[in-house]
Amino acid sequence: MYQPLTIAVLAGTTRLQRQSITAAYYIANFARQLPNVEIIFVDPVDFHFEGDGNDPEGKDPRYTDITAKADAFFIVTPEYNHSFPGSLKRMLDSELANYNHKPVAIAGVSNGNWGGVRAVEQLCLAIRELGLVVMSWDMYFPYVQNIFNDDNSIKDEHKERYEKQLTKLFTELIWFADMLKTNREE
Ligand SMILES: Cc1cc2nc3c(=O)[nH]c(=O)nc-3n(C[C@H](O)[C@H](O)[C@H](O)COP(=O)(O)O)c2cc1C
Repeated sequence: MYQPLTIAVLAGTTRLQRQSITAAYYIANFARQLPNVEIIFVDPVDFHFEGDGNDPEGKDPRYTDITAKADAFFIVTPEYNHSFPGSLKRMLDSELANYNHKPVAIAGVSNGNWGGVRAVEQLCLAIRELGLVVMSWDMYFPYVQNIFNDDNSIKDEHKERYEKQLTKLFTELIWFADMLKTNREE
């Protein structure tokens, strides 16, 4: 029987006032409607990583299990000082082998007109070293404060554009997830 693919959607920051979490919820909810995928939402607030690195004490066993199970990742990162947040880096750094030969898509988020593009570029350098296979195309949420309603749903005027982009990106991510999973198992 066909096993559903597991996609972990990673939020990129722990800041209390964070607005990028809304984009992350939106992406996860969109993906939950796709056939044959299981979505795990990963909020770094819910995990604890002692110190730095990926030694046993530096891992959170729940994050270890999620990364072991995941067939693909979708990282939603805000831009902090032209890079991605330290909490996201800390979480990613806690594992290594569990990422190997798995695909990852990225969305950048900002409250200005750049949409987090510099954070995404910086993140690409790190995730390549983690063994993840990065998609050649990303998504951006500039002026994030103007895109969503109070209930986290997307405003009507933005819906068509973002749904079109998400459809394209998830089609690509799932294609890679399927192919790489088959080859990992063989
Ligand atoms: C510490 C910090 C640094 C930031 N640096 C940048 C930046 O370099 N470029 C940018 O476009 N926005 C920057 N922002 C603004 C974020 O784009 C904005 O907060 C946006 O809502 C996404 O981040 P959030 O999820 O933390 O809200 C920064 C925000 C913080 C908290």
